[in-house]
Amino acid sequence: MRLDAAQVEQLALEFEKKSAQEVLKWALDTFGLKIGLASSFGAEDVVVIDLMTRIDKDKTKVFTLDTGRLNQETYDVMDDIRARYGIKIDVYFPDQAEVEEMVRNKGMNLMYESVQNRKLCCEIRKVHPLNRALKELDGWITGLRRDQAATRADTKKIEIDAAHGGIIKLNPIADWTSDQVWDHIRKNNIPYNKLHDMGYPSIGCEPCTRAIKPGEDPRAGRWWWEDAAYKECGLHFDPTKKKK
Ligand code: ADX
Ligand code: SF4
Repeated sequence: MRLDAAQVEQLALEFEKKSAQEVLKWALDTFGLKIGLASSFGAEDVVVIDLMTRIDKDKTKVFTLDTGRLNQETYDVMDDIRARYGIKIDVYFPDQAEVEEMVRNKGMNLMYESVQNRKLCCEIRKVHPLNRALKELDGWITGLRRDQAATRADTKKIEIDAAHGGIIKLNPIADWTSDQVWDHIRKNNIPYNKLHDMGYPSIGCEPCTRAIKPGEDPRAGRWWWEDAAYKECGLHFDPTKKKK
């Protein structure tokens, strides 16, 4: 099922006044298993999993992109979430031949050498597997929040994803703060990534993510050696908006 630009614009206006639960209920009722959450198993994503399973566990589709470079803590929380909610998690791996060619030509730690190399690694390890996951779906759900980064400030709760064939992209907790996310985790005793207890507000790949110091920007630990302007991996690239 496809919605057109006018329908999505209208829904975006309506969803501004709606709760994350209401937006997700609409999504699961409308798309069922043709919409899925992309989960990195950071705090935001475990909250969305909790909300989805409360609405309808049988319609809760969760997928993750395993770049091959994730932290052990991230694999731990994947299993904790599977056990807690009794859901299956679809894991998408990068294309073996693409990774083999990349590391043969550029080495395992190419990301530190240039922005171009880092983006190539993200493209092969994250963006191509995402494209494969989204081919089967009419929509995807994210844990994006507006106050995570300047590049995310205008995130709508529903958008058309022009980069992925015009499917729906739903960002149900776009207007939540980090405090709201953590209140929800604590109140509901949701399993969370233990990297958060070690000073990581944002979860990514092990070589490209580190803890931040108090007062630092929440995304300061992602690709910390790069200029802030480059700090997106391409998962959330929208060709109709200004270049990120
Ligand atoms: S990123 O673009 O910088 O990597 P971030 O880590 O802030 O993104 O996560 C934002 C949202 O992107 C997450 O809430 C999740 O929906 C999606 N996402 C990020 N990384 C992954 C991943 N490895 N697998 C699946 N979804 C992901
Ligand atoms: Fe590669 Fe780092 Fe991007 Fe992960 S975040 S895909 S390791 S460059």
